[in-house]
Amino acid sequence: MMDRLSFRLVVAALALGVLMSTGAYAQQPLKIGLILPMTGPFASTGRQVTAAVKLYIAEHGDVVAGRKIEVLLRDDTNAPETTKRFAQELVTNDHAEILTGFGLTPLAFAAAPIATAAKVPMIVMSAGTLVIPEKSPYILRTSFTLPQQSAPIAAWATKHGINKVFTLVTDYAPGIDAETTFNNVFKANGGQIVGEARVPAQNPDYAPFIQRAKDAKPDALFVFVPSGEGAAVMKQFAERGLAKAGIKLIGPGDVTDDDILDSMGDAAIGTITSHFYSAAHPSAENKAYVAAIEKANPGMRPNFMSVGGWDGMELIYEVLKKTNGSTDGDKFIAAAKGLSWVSPRGKVTIDPRTRDIIQDVYMREVKRVSGHLYNVEFDQVASVAPDGK
Ligand code: PHB
Repeated sequence: MMDRLSFRLVVAALALGVLMSTGAYAQQPLKIGLILPMTGPFASTGRQVTAAVKLYIAEHGDVVAGRKIEVLLRDDTNAPETTKRFAQELVTNDHAEILTGFGLTPLAFAAAPIATAAKVPMIVMSAGTLVIPEKSPYILRTSFTLPQQSAPIAAWATKHGINKVFTLVTDYAPGIDAETTFNNVFKANGGQIVGEARVPAQNPDYAPFIQRAKDAKPDALFVFVPSGEGAAVMKQFAERGLAKAGIKLIGPGDVTDDDILDSMGDAAIGTITSHFYSAAHPSAENKAYVAAIEKANPGMRPNFMSVGGWDGMELIYEVLKKTNGSTDGDKFIAAAKGLSWVSPRGKVTIDPRTRDIIQDVYMREVKRVSGHLYNVEFDQVASVAPDGK
């Protein structure tokens, strides 16, 4: 028996199919449902991604393959049941033909069944748990995965005198991905884990965990916290004197998020991370990007969530050019597979096998440049697969 939600979604998908088969869709605006946390603790992700989406449309025009693009923004406040309800309403009531955004993993998980039932392409611009694209055959991702971002720092550590590590991650899917990958690669290279902590995702208090890390006397503290949380970790790292005790801070680059890095103060200097995006990436494309974001949003420095949004739009535009404006789920996904382009972050490719992103991952160190804190790149691992292998 089909439940009522599935029935309504199937009816919506059939109605869209009739429109498309008659060619009438070419005259219809193409509505993109953009669902993001615009309020609450992860509002910075919503702000960063919407700024990128707006800039992309301003620079590339709002008509692609003859179709006028209309973005319908919804604030899910980081509540998965709200993401799911918006996804459903956008598809059935507003006739959105593409769903995108998805600021955190639980929000992407919540929307996946809607994409599957309605056969609507779902572009994940932000969330980072490895298994997300497996949750629906209509998912594509332009952000990153935690295994992809955590493997390079693990390999780097043992080569640079870091043999004992304490790991600290937020206790939800991306944190577990980061911890697992770091452990596997670090131990395979001869490293030793001297302690591990998983911090609650809701209202985290990092102080007791960072004290435990200090007491374990590691060479380094490995940290994954979601974008927006890095400053709170850095505050405790400084106050509890870990740097003075000779403990280095390492991790994927979420902890030194460009959105808040400059407010972290000198405690952040020397942090070593592996990540796919730095506002200081020295390419012509990135210099233009950082300048354009700042011009349109005074005081804003784009972070890694921003480029996920930018590249999500690039993917949508490039696929629509290939499908002549069709958003038919199966055609859209087929056209996306293997697409490759140069992003502000460097070269990216949609892996035809996983529908996920293949990209370069950079080694970076936090330094003060012209008075401001930046993740300065010093090395690069080319074309890292979504699983980090
Ligand atoms: C996620 O929930 O997938 C997520 C959110 C923020 C990050 C990384 C991963 O910085």
